[in-house]
Amino acid sequence: MSAAEKLHQDGSACPGLNYPPPPCPDDRRELRRRVLGRPWFHRIDLGDGLITPGIDDTPAKLRYLRLPARLDGLTVLDIGAYDGFFSFACERRGAVRVVAADRFCWTYGGMASKEGFDLARTALRSRVEEAFVRVEEISPDRLGTFDLVLFLGVLYHAPDPLHYLRNVRSVCRGQLVLETHLDALDYPHPAAVYYPGAVLNNDASNHWGPNPACVEAMLREVGFRRIEQICLYHGTRAVYHAFV
Ligand SMILES: C[S@@+](CC[C@H](N)C(=O)[O-])C[C@H]1O[C@@H](n2cnc3c(N)ncnc32)[C@H](O)[C@@H]1O
Repeated sequence: MSAAEKLHQDGSACPGLNYPPPPCPDDRRELRRRVLGRPWFHRIDLGDGLITPGIDDTPAKLRYLRLPARLDGLTVLDIGAYDGFFSFACERRGAVRVVAADRFCWTYGGMASKEGFDLARTALRSRVEEAFVRVEEISPDRLGTFDLVLFLGVLYHAPDPLHYLRNVRSVCRGQLVLETHLDALDYPHPAAVYYPGAVLNNDASNHWGPNPACVEAMLREVGFRRIEQICLYHGTRAVYHAFV
């Protein structure tokens, strides 16, 4: 385990759930049946020992992000929200408004559907809003602007990363938290590896693996001023905080 990983293993910025569970035991039984009857990407704690069985270790990822412990009064946009783990986490930390935006994994069947987000939002009695929108369509006119923007696990899906980052910057009036896959880590100049077809993880939606210098240069190019790499984990994943 790297020093950076150790630093963020304590979970201190990760307080437990405090949503009220639905009161009726029959409702809880039905909720459990529905939760365990579908595939999930995120592991969301729905209370009473019920955690959505996601294939992604989302609680670990949350620790790597180093989100502020409290977000009282702030607005948050979670781009590529999927099952909504990070949107709900921000709401729990006191954000006054949270918008979960997604498109592709809210469109198809099975795990790539919005059913998980809807189920978790209802179970948590969450007020997280939804925006069925592609990154290509994001703008202040469409969504407004936000104090905190989460852009987690989406950049390498971009055919045109600068276009995506410009749209992300356009709706960010405070801080961006970016989580991404990296490549070419030993190359000192800004560069990105292109993945034709499905060469990265057998997934044709993966297009680019930027190196750290490239991520920082692109963030600067679209108008972020202070940029910090917060951690590098699992060899090729990184978290950046960037400020307007
Ligand atoms: C690897 S998942 C990451 C989910 C979540 N942000 C996380 O970090 O656990 C990528 C997400 O980005 C979404 N996504 C990818 N390309 C997108 C696009 N062009 N517009 C909107 N959403 C997109 C997918 O639908 C999916 O929910």
